[in-house]
Amino acid sequence: MTASPDIPRAWHWHGADDTVLLDGFHALKHALRFGASVPLAVATDRAAALALAEDLAPDVRAALDGLLTEVDEEVYRRLVPRPHPTGVAALALRPDRGAGLRALGRLPRTAPVVVLDQPRNLGNAGAVVRLAAGFGVTGVVTTGTLDPWHPTVVRGGAGLHFATVVERMDVAGLPPGPVFALDAEGEDIRGVRLPDDAVLAFGSERSGLTAELRARADRLLSLPMRPQVSSYNLATSVAMTLYHWSAQSPAGPPRP
Ligand SMILES: C[S@@+](CC[C@H](N)C(=O)[O-])C[C@H]1O[C@@H](n2cnc3c(N)ncnc32)[C@H](O)[C@@H]1O
Repeated sequence: MTASPDIPRAWHWHGADDTVLLDGFHALKHALRFGASVPLAVATDRAAALALAEDLAPDVRAALDGLLTEVDEEVYRRLVPRPHPTGVAALALRPDRGAGLRALGRLPRTAPVVVLDQPRNLGNAGAVVRLAAGFGVTGVVTTGTLDPWHPTVVRGGAGLHFATVVERMDVAGLPPGPVFALDAEGEDIRGVRLPDDAVLAFGSERSGLTAELRARADRLLSLPMRPQVSSYNLATSVAMTLYHWSAQSPAGPPRP
């Protein structure tokens, strides 16, 4: 496909739909792998992007070949807030919220749901989506005001929002299943087996779990931590907890 003067117009036209920005080659690669619908994709150097695909992601090379339009540097800079080193960007349609909520509510499930209770940091939320995708969890739910589809979260998640379900909801509407809430004052997680239908809840970076989430929790669990260390980072806490689940669950992510 050759450079098109209509790209900025088409970009803004699609931007009015429920689309999200895929920032960089890897975000686009992951989104395509996990079935995202991508109406528009651009590259400042189409041949270089296809060569990268040849090298790192041959499974999506043909799809990229059909999708990528070359744009010059100046046009690209008008489309994205922060240029990415790969010079690749795309718009993807946000998955249907109703379908996401149905997937979250379905029982039995083979992998937990992760709940971030009023998270504040967009980078943490993105890192958690990436973890959720890697561990094959059923979905990531956020409570509070942070938009889990904010462009910075999608960037942090490397396009892996499409590999799981990502939705915002109230504590009252959380998916079914036993709620294990992570808190430094809880019982030691090492003695506890996390079931596949668990709802694993984590508190906010600043103030931990809300009273509402605590009231909903069936158990409070702690991660091993030396005295005098106050807490771990939110995303690393999710990583340790998902690892703990996967190490005990036959249904966990496939082994390499
Ligand atoms: C940065 S911590 C929050 C610290 C906050 N000042 C507090 O009072 O809980 C963010 C979240 O990570 C999880 N977390 C961090 N360290 C933990 C630990 N040692 N055990 C269990 N969960 C932990 C909890 O869910 C916590 O709410």
